[in-house]
This record gives sequence, structure tokens and C-alpha cells, in this order.
Amino acid sequence: MKNNQPIGLFDSGIGGLTVAKAVKKILPNERIIYFGDTAHLPYGDKSEAAIQSYSIKIADVLLKAKCKVILIACNSASSSSYELLKEYVGKRVKIINVIDPMVRFVGANFPNRKVGLIGTKRTVLSEVYDQKIKALDADISLKSLATPLLVPMIEEGYFNNKISHEIIEEYLAHKQLQNIDGLILGCTHYPLIKDEIQLLTSNDLEIVDSAHVVALSLKQYLEEENLKNDKVEEPDLFMVSDFTTSFESSANMFFDSPIKLIKHSLWD
Ligand code: DGL
Repeated sequence: MKNNQPIGLFDSGIGGLTVAKAVKKILPNERIIYFGDTAHLPYGDKSEAAIQSYSIKIADVLLKAKCKVILIACNSASSSSYELLKEYVGKRVKIINVIDPMVRFVGANFPNRKVGLIGTKRTVLSEVYDQKIKALDADISLKSLATPLLVPMIEEGYFNNKISHEIIEEYLAHKQLQNIDGLILGCTHYPLIKDEIQLLTSNDLEIVDSAHVVALSLKQYLEEENLKNDKVEEPDLFMVSDFTTSFESSANMFFDSPIKLIKHSLWD
């Protein structure tokens, strides 16, 4: 039996499109409904309470659109709102976050090793990765560093150039990130600079981004629950809480193909 309800994804803005892209690649027969909360970005500098209130509003939009799953395609929102959203939606829809699949991946691939994490201030301050990795009891030492310059840098299209090299090098030289065996890209914007980070570090450093890992975990869930679709009947929908042409052109950069953004206010 096929299930043609869409997959809902949301992020503070357009960074979560890296996850949407990975989902489309791994699950091409699923329709996606994406919500970018561009009116409130960046989430990385916001309080937990603010992000929770935005997340509830977005969940309402995605529930109304009859999504079968809501994927929080944002580390800052995953660390702030996952538990609350689960409680809020109850049995109405499954909530998936970007952190748990990554933690399982790290547990399976880096036992007894030292792993670095870069992300927004909100994600790093929440210590959610630290708590979940500790709970694995796999003797993994996690060293986290907030790297707040990276999101605006990427959104302005500054990557693979002299300025982005300098900023990334400065962060990578921080004492938290020395002698690590793996580096978690704990922000959904960062897949765009994955190759550049690899270029600026040793080839032995394994860099893991959540987009692919979380898309695989979504696929596994749909298969286990018999919720997969076999054909997309309606076009994907990309909504934003505030529209500018600059968001639309950046969105194309994150999704790798032209998309049309539709404005949908959270407060109507
Ligand atoms: N993409 C968001 C994340 O994964 C960060 C962007 C923001 O600060 O809004 O944390």
C-alpha cells in the first residue's frame, strides 16, 4: 500500500534545503513540503523559547498540509524544539530530528575516538549532542565549537574563496578541534562548505554531514512503517515566512536546482 501524503521539512531559512535535496535523491517518489522561517532567521542566535514558539507554528502549517512525517531540517531547532514538538503533535505525525541519526552514525563509526562538532551557538550551548553521545556509552570524546560566522558567510555565497578559507582556517585552528578523528557538521548550512573544510584539513579527518545520514534514516522509517509513496503526483512546495528575491536565488544554490518560494506568514 502506498502513502501519498507529503514529507514536511523545516528550517530557520534555506539551509535545510541541503536536507531536502538529500531526501529527494534518496526518496525520489516522495512529495516534499518545505517551510523556511526566513522571517525569524537566524535561529542560531535565538533563545530556546523563541525557537520553540516558531517551531510549533510551523508544525501547525505542516500538519494542515497533511504531512506524514515532519523532519526538523535544522540543528538549532532540533536541539531546542524536538521534545516539545513530539509532545505537541502526539500521535498525529512522526517527528524526526537531524541530531539523533547523526548521533547513531557517530556511535557506530567513532567508538573510543575523539570527535569535533561545529554548529550554531544555540546548538552548541544546548549540549544536546554531548548528552546524546555520552548516553551511547561508547567512550567517544566530543569537542564542540560554535562557529557563528559560517551561516552568514555561506548565505552570502562566500565559499571556496579567500575570505571563506581564512574564516574556516581560523575556526579549525581552535584548540577544541585539534587531534580529532571526525568532524560533525552540526548545521544544515555546512554541507556547502564540506569540500572546502576537507581541503583545509588533513585527508584523514572524516567529515560527516547530517543531510545524507538523516535522509537514510527517514527512508528506513518509511519502509518500516510501510509509508512510502511510489509516484509523485503533485509538485513539491517551498514556503517561506518572509519572501525576498535574494532568498530565492540563495535557495537555488542550496537545492541545486531552481525553485519557487511561496510566502506563507506564520501569524495569520
Ligand atoms: N540551518 C540552521 C542549523 O542547522 C542554522 C541556521 C540559523 O542559525 O538559523 O542550525
